[in-house]
Amino acid sequence: MSTLVIKNLHAEVDGKEILRGIDLTINEGETVAVLGPNGHGKSTLLNVIMGHPKYIVTEGTITLDGQDILSLTTDQRAKLGLFLGMQNPSEIPGVINSDFLRAAVNAKSEKPISTYQFYKVLDKATKELKMPFDLATRSLNEGFSGGEKKRNEILQLMLLEPKIAMLDEIDSGLDVDAIQVVADVIKEEQAKGIGFLVISHYARLFDLIQPTRAVVIVNGKVVIDGDPSYIKRIDQTGYEFIKTELGIEISKPDNNMNTVSIGSCAVKDAIK
Ligand SMILES: Nc1ncnc2c1ncn2[C@@H]1O[C@H](COP(=O)(O)OP(=O)(O)OP(=O)(O)O)[C@@H](O)[C@H]1O
Ligand SMILES: [Mg+2]
Repeated sequence: MSTLVIKNLHAEVDGKEILRGIDLTINEGETVAVLGPNGHGKSTLLNVIMGHPKYIVTEGTITLDGQDILSLTTDQRAKLGLFLGMQNPSEIPGVINSDFLRAAVNAKSEKPISTYQFYKVLDKATKELKMPFDLATRSLNEGFSGGEKKRNEILQLMLLEPKIAMLDEIDSGLDVDAIQVVADVIKEEQAKGIGFLVISHYARLFDLIQPTRAVVIVNGKVVIDGDPSYIKRIDQTGYEFIKTELGIEISKPDNNMNTVSIGSCAVKDAIK
């Protein structure tokens, strides 16, 4: 059984500390729901686990089955069985989706998959996801609708068969029927024993996939790691209880953007 262990993880981006001592363990077979207010470090955590070069780890460790992964490149982490379905998947014009998927599958297997076998697997997976097959033959994510991009992330998950899958707001942009389709696929993968770390702001997806634990991240730290009943509670009452019951002040995102008031706007001078 695979286990991902994160200890005292601190990480920064552009010199700003975002993760301030994350402790978290995910076992294969578990589904951990991750919640937390906007801008408190959820996506950052997943990016750091996957090895995004923009995020600098300043302290702490991440191990998969006892092996340190912080010294590994992103593709090496993927080969070990980590997977990230992104909150905002990138559009890559010129890279055909099916070529990308096949290259990813081949990178993980010892022997290259035959064209016939690959298209058989791809056809089955796209049908299960109720995805038009032409999405597989277009440039990766280019011009895909929000929901199509999210289904395409799940398509990658199905083909790559990771040990631990991390899904970042996979439900955002999906219509009600598509959430059901995606949840059905997640349930199939759960039955195979894959571990899941699933970020969402809404109880709907969690109702369908039944997490085994709920984790709440506030101010770059895990402030709750408990039973899934927290999901309903947060859905109904928000995060106020973190302050009133745990005494943790929820910091507001920095408000240091260069705002231009209409009073000082150059347009005003131009139209004088
Ligand atoms: N690449 C980056 N460059 C600059 N700042 C970043 C970057 N990535 C994250 N941040 C900042 O780090 C903080 C945490 O962002 P993160 O995306 O982890 O939040 P989140 O908890 O996933 O929020 P949400 O629920 O809105 O998705 C934010 O203030 C964000 O602006
Ligand atoms: Mg996020």
